[in-house]
Amino acid sequence: MLDKKKTVTALKPGEDRAIFLGLGMILSSVMMYFVLGVTILRSYADSVWTEEGVCVILNSTVTADMNCSYNCGSECWRDSKYPCLQVYVSVNNTGRVSRLSHNEETQDTSSECFYVPRCQKDSVAMHVMIMNISERLKVNQQVTCYYDPSEQQENVILMRLYDQTVVFHSLLWPSSMLIGGALVIVMVKLTQYLSRLCEEIGKIKR
Ligand SMILES: *[C@@H]1O[C@H](CO)[C@@H](O)[C@H](O)[C@H]1NC(C)=O
Ligand SMILES: *[C@@H]1O[C@H](CO)[C@@H](O)[C@H](O)[C@H]1NC(C)=O
Ligand SMILES: *[C@@H]1O[C@H](CO)[C@@H](O)[C@H](O)[C@H]1NC(C)=O
Ligand SMILES: *[C@@H]1O[C@H](CO)[C@@H](O)[C@H](O)[C@H]1NC(C)=O
Repeated sequence: MLDKKKTVTALKPGEDRAIFLGLGMILSSVMMYFVLGVTILRSYADSVWTEEGVCVILNSTVTADMNCSYNCGSECWRDSKYPCLQVYVSVNNTGRVSRLSHNEETQDTSSECFYVPRCQKDSVAMHVMIMNISERLKVNQQVTCYYDPSEQQENVILMRLYDQTVVFHSLLWPSSMLIGGALVIVMVKLTQYLSRLCEEIGKIKR
């Protein structure tokens, strides 16, 4: 009788810790859901470029130098410039001619240029980078692109910032943690229930 009491009291702190762990995992997963909801999921839901299509590149030309400013220390900004690459494509699925942007972010920053590099002092490096991209976007080449089926956005984009696989993976982790936390709590509760059941059966037998 005394021995049994000892094991029951000895188990208690471990069970408490397991319950706290489970609750902590659930709380973390809720916070992760919240953070993902306001970043990735919102950006994904707000994106109008939902339809995948085939874009045929019509031309890709450097039109002008764009100004940008880079950070050179605290409260220090200097001007630099990068070439603006304009790419026109024909969207096979709709038959329309549109300007192509790299992704949603580029489209927001500059609807004219295909790619907006991170501004840096070395404008030659940015020039080389843009020329490299231009080289890869050869005329008559076919690429997969995304367009707005409602046609409110005329531009099309080459890749989505957050596509379905990114959204899936970002939901996978908090979901696993939520399920894991719930499982830990269920297991502890089940163990407690079973040990109580055993005790009662023992009492009846005696
Ligand atoms: C590229 O193609 C578009 C659409 O056909 C046209 O409006 C634009 O003038 C062309 N640009 C150059 C540089 O040929
Ligand atoms: C860039 O800045 C220069 C002077 O700072 C100005 O003359 C030029 O028009 C600007 N270019 C663009 C594309 O805004
Ligand atoms: C483009 O569209 C035409 C007709 O709309 C079709 O015949 C052709 O196979 C399409 N090309 C691609 C690469 O999907
Ligand atoms: C473009 O850059 C990539 C690396 O980012 C490099 O492997 C490739 O050789 C470059 N292509 C040209 C044409 O410069």
